[in-house]
Amino acid sequence: MMRLRGLELPAGAVFAPMAGLTDAACRHLMAEHGAAWTVSEMVSAKALTFGDKKSLALARDTLDGGPRGPYAVQLFGAEPETLAAAIGVLRAHGVNFDILDINMGCPAPKITGSGAGSKLLLDPDLCGRMVAAARAALGADTPLTVKMRLGWDADHVTGPAVAKTCAANGADLLAVHGRTREQMYAPPVDAAGIAAVKQAVDIPVLANGDITAPEDALALLAATGCDGVMIGRGALGDPWLFGRVNAALAGAPIPPPPTLAQRMAALREQVYHMCEDKGEWAAMPQARAHAMHYMKGLRGAAALRRYCLMLEHFADVDRLIDTVYRCQE
Ligand SMILES: Cc1cc2nc3c(=O)[nH]c(=O)nc-3n(C[C@H](O)[C@H](O)[C@H](O)COP(=O)(O)O)c2cc1C
Repeated sequence: MMRLRGLELPAGAVFAPMAGLTDAACRHLMAEHGAAWTVSEMVSAKALTFGDKKSLALARDTLDGGPRGPYAVQLFGAEPETLAAAIGVLRAHGVNFDILDINMGCPAPKITGSGAGSKLLLDPDLCGRMVAAARAALGADTPLTVKMRLGWDADHVTGPAVAKTCAANGADLLAVHGRTREQMYAPPVDAAGIAAVKQAVDIPVLANGDITAPEDALALLAATGCDGVMIGRGALGDPWLFGRVNAALAGAPIPPPPTLAQRMAALREQVYHMCEDKGEWAAMPQARAHAMHYMKGLRGAAALRRYCLMLEHFADVDRLIDTVYRCQE
């Protein structure tokens, strides 16, 4: 259990934001499997202030009556006043969120080129002003979190300085992906780097990066002294990872792995909800990526992944599942 301002959050691993992947269907699935809270895909603060409907739709969770469990909306931007205005837009449109998260980690050139995402890490003072502006716009009751990397590159490991200024300006929690921007996703996660960020602040810090098994979570917690973990890619196609990790964190027996039937039922249901939420035409290209993750470890996985690339209609998912069963015989 963790308390941020007035909000009580359940114990357990947190599901990381991933653009193009963590839509409402995906978040609901992870929450149902034990994610302590979930985060939207990153949403452009500037686009929200321009009245962009797609950005508003990314932030809004209306599937099945709204978010399952505590829900954070993540905004990216490079200007404090735009960030504050975007929070006003979310509120004015009645977007339902429990936590506001600021993206200070995205390495994509499209984002850093505008000064946002991990580019902010080069300017700790600006990071502080971003947090202060968001805090003022949110008021005292809504928790504010920051998702960051260790720094920009080996010469600019600004994580601890950024963490300090974020905490001083009203951030309630930090989630730290243990790589610099320059490292993208390649070298192993730098646990000592995350530990340095944790030691710089008194607010809770979540350790993030490469957790695919309960023992990864325990090792990263032990090496960093962090207050919890955040999991992204490892849970794709394997929402049961939250059950296994949460059991390990609680010192309870690890539940057995899911059966093939459970895995295929989860895939079908996830894609069904995606189609329900945004229509088949928009949902199916994104569903291909999710389906591919469900093929992990199956016999014939390479051919099955190629099959996933051809999913065009919801009915194709049932054909894929039939093929999966035939391949396992
Ligand atoms: C396809 C993809 C999209 C991502 N999009 C976001 C995003 O929108 N916001 C964000 O803060 N991090 C984003 N991330 C980073 C993840 O939240 C996470 O920090 C990173 O993947 C490391 O954790 P993991 O090894 O558990 O996946 C993204 C990562 C991937 C692979």
